[in-house]
Amino acid sequence: MTQPFSTKIGIIGGGQLGKMLIESAKPWNVEFNILEASKDCPCFEYASTFIEGSLMDDEKIKELAAISDVITYEIEHVGVETLKFLEQNGTAVIPSGSILEIIQDKGVQKQFYKDNGLATSPFIIVDSSETSQLDLSRFPGNRVVIKSCKGGYDGKGVSIMSKSDISNGKTPEVFQGRVVLENFVPEVTELSVIVARDASGDIRSFPIVEMVFDPEINLVDYLFAPSAVSNQVKDQANTLAVKAIEALNGVGIFAVELFLTKEGEVIINEIAPRPHNSGHHTIEANYTSQYEQLMRIMLNMPLGETDLITPAVMTNIIGADNVTGAYTLGGLEDLMATKGAYLHWYNKSVTKPGRKMGHFTVLDSDLDSAVQKSHDLKRMLKTQPQ
Ligand SMILES: Nc1ncnc2c1ncn2[C@@H]1O[C@H](COP(=O)(O)OP(=O)(O)OP(=O)(O)O)[C@@H](O)[C@H]1O
Ligand SMILES: [Mg+2]
Repeated sequence: MTQPFSTKIGIIGGGQLGKMLIESAKPWNVEFNILEASKDCPCFEYASTFIEGSLMDDEKIKELAAISDVITYEIEHVGVETLKFLEQNGTAVIPSGSILEIIQDKGVQKQFYKDNGLATSPFIIVDSSETSQLDLSRFPGNRVVIKSCKGGYDGKGVSIMSKSDISNGKTPEVFQGRVVLENFVPEVTELSVIVARDASGDIRSFPIVEMVFDPEINLVDYLFAPSAVSNQVKDQANTLAVKAIEALNGVGIFAVELFLTKEGEVIINEIAPRPHNSGHHTIEANYTSQYEQLMRIMLNMPLGETDLITPAVMTNIIGADNVTGAYTLGGLEDLMATKGAYLHWYNKSVTKPGRKMGHFTVLDSDLDSAVQKSHDLKRMLKTQPQ
């Protein structure tokens, strides 16, 4: 087993996921180097070496690799060709660039599920200019979902449209190039299973979590664990998630986003090859967090126990609609006075509507009480102009 204390990890991306990954390894004195477009980012203060540059820049990624023992990324939009080149030349990249290449393109990703017998909703891949000519009768219901194959995140690049609008030539303006059209799943329950797999093939998943979405901004409103679904659904979801990561031959941390349809079928929506919003609560609620688990994999340490210690609710703190720029956080005192509430602040210098500014997790032996406390706190926590 590697002694972690002198290892240097290079992270492509300097956002909040990187910040929480670094925080998980603080007790171990691991060093981190960061590549990010601007110093004004959550990871800047934690970096041993900070490289300012585009996450797509071949030379900057190589510069990061030259001073790091292992490379990882905390966002999907990074130069994947460079990652593959580095791996061919002996650099450890976790998860592998060849996996990121599949994930980066929602069309390729969907095709991968289909080819590997992994349940997903029916889909068509087409150029966005050709959607009006499609025969949409294969999709039941009145609506379909259109997703940009490349470049989407946090629900941007996803649009739910009526079939008649599509046939009348309407396409969301942001969409260019190839898109996936897929079946809209009505009354869906959204689940997530975070799966960890190490280089020896040892695999361990975190207890399933359930997400509640804010339909207006298409972002997670809150999530809770344990999920309220039946044990049978939990088993189905876990089996599908593990099967997907094995099919990818994935090494690292993967968030498998799943849909439970109202008919009781579990299907894959998408996979994120990195720590994920749906695993923030594992920092306080589980024996090992998703972040520590990724560190263990990168340091060749045994996987940690993933059991939930106590029920938890995680809520994102999203920039208010009417505030842009410098801000303060209203309601902080209420949060800090609540038993079992934990704040994570991402150190973003400016807020904007819909931006993820932080999150909080509430632990309570009674899940309903954790949900209630979270709702109360969410009402009070607001970004305000400075
Ligand atoms: N086929 C579908 N049926 C119903 N709702 C869907 C479907 N596909 C996506 N959605 C809704 O849109 C959300 C965002 O979709 P998706 O996860 O594919 O995009 P994303 O941009 O990668 O989002 P994120 O970064 O938040 O994961 C989903 O979590 C779900 O609420
Ligand atoms: Mg998603």
